[in-house]
Amino acid sequence: MTFHLSLPRRVLFGPGVYARLGEVARTMGRRALLVTGRSALRRSGRLQQAEDMLREQGVDYLLIEGVENDPSLTTCVHAIHTARRERCDFVLSIGGGSALDAGKAAAAVAPQAGDLEAYFHGGRKLERNPLPHLAVPTTAGTGSESTPNAVLTDTARGIKKSLRDERMVPDAALADPELTLSAPPDVTAQAGMDALTQAIECCVSRDANPFSDALALRAIELLARHLPGAVAEGSDLAHREPVALASLLTGIAFGNAGLGAVHGFANPLGAALHAPHGLICAALLPHVCEFNLPAAERKFGDVARALGLHAAGEVPAALAALNHRLGIPARLDGFGLTEEALPALAAASRSGSMLKNPRSATDDERVGLLRKVL
Ligand SMILES: [Fe+2]
Repeated sequence: MTFHLSLPRRVLFGPGVYARLGEVARTMGRRALLVTGRSALRRSGRLQQAEDMLREQGVDYLLIEGVENDPSLTTCVHAIHTARRERCDFVLSIGGGSALDAGKAAAAVAPQAGDLEAYFHGGRKLERNPLPHLAVPTTAGTGSESTPNAVLTDTARGIKKSLRDERMVPDAALADPELTLSAPPDVTAQAGMDALTQAIECCVSRDANPFSDALALRAIELLARHLPGAVAEGSDLAHREPVALASLLTGIAFGNAGLGAVHGFANPLGAALHAPHGLICAALLPHVCEFNLPAAERKFGDVARALGLHAAGEVPAALAALNHRLGIPARLDGFGLTEEALPALAAASRSGSMLKNPRSATDDERVGLLRKVL
């Protein structure tokens, strides 16, 4: 067995670690590109708190605010040009997976000779190391703070895919569960189901290894026990903390072991439907698990036990029941998914995460899987 691991050099986790943001940032440089999402961070007062901590440490910053859900190339190019023009020496991203991914793209491409398009569409490899990056998640689910890829959308061409390089793993991840307390129930449910999908997919992935298995199985256990509570009683840290921990563990695990068919479908579906990523994943997960069962029975036995079940065969129905309990729709027709669109979506999902799926799927089988959520 061989595997190799890419990990953040520094991880700070726990209620209250946000107070250490200034001190950690100071170790990364003097001038930051501060990347955040639309407005939640400002409204919660947490942005002001970050700005105060940076000032106290003598760190200058340029603010890129308003990264949209599913960050666009346009937003990232703006961030990259700002980092270059202002000679930022590191990136600090605070927000959901989208803000962190935009921060990752900026950190990766700012030091390069070429522009984002060349690396995103042209397949050009990063010639230079990315800028140092401190990532601070405010939702629990994407695990972006510890993964080597940024999921970006070319809105003009309707293409959503990953910019990926092992060196894009953030240098430091600072995950404070208290930041997730203000996430509304639907965001909590969707992000949490993204984490559960990622944990299960990486556990049964063709590239799974003992390190990723240990983290992913523990994450599945934590999510099964605490995600419903985090959705129903969002102000209870006793649920928020284990869910945030599960997200962190999952990010480290799948950043090294890859994902599977659900995430293979999720990018083209996300570009076509503009539905939240976690919701798309959650709806597909029970059906993909059902399809994968014969190819990974032993692994699904482990997943079943982590979910508190007895047998691998119980996994799909239990996941469908969990979606129902969390208020996540079983179908995506409400987002405009149609029968006519299925063949093109199935064709667009041939590569990427699909290649790590434990069971290979033909185009027809992929259309069949998509039809289950129609
Ligand atoms: Fe995901």
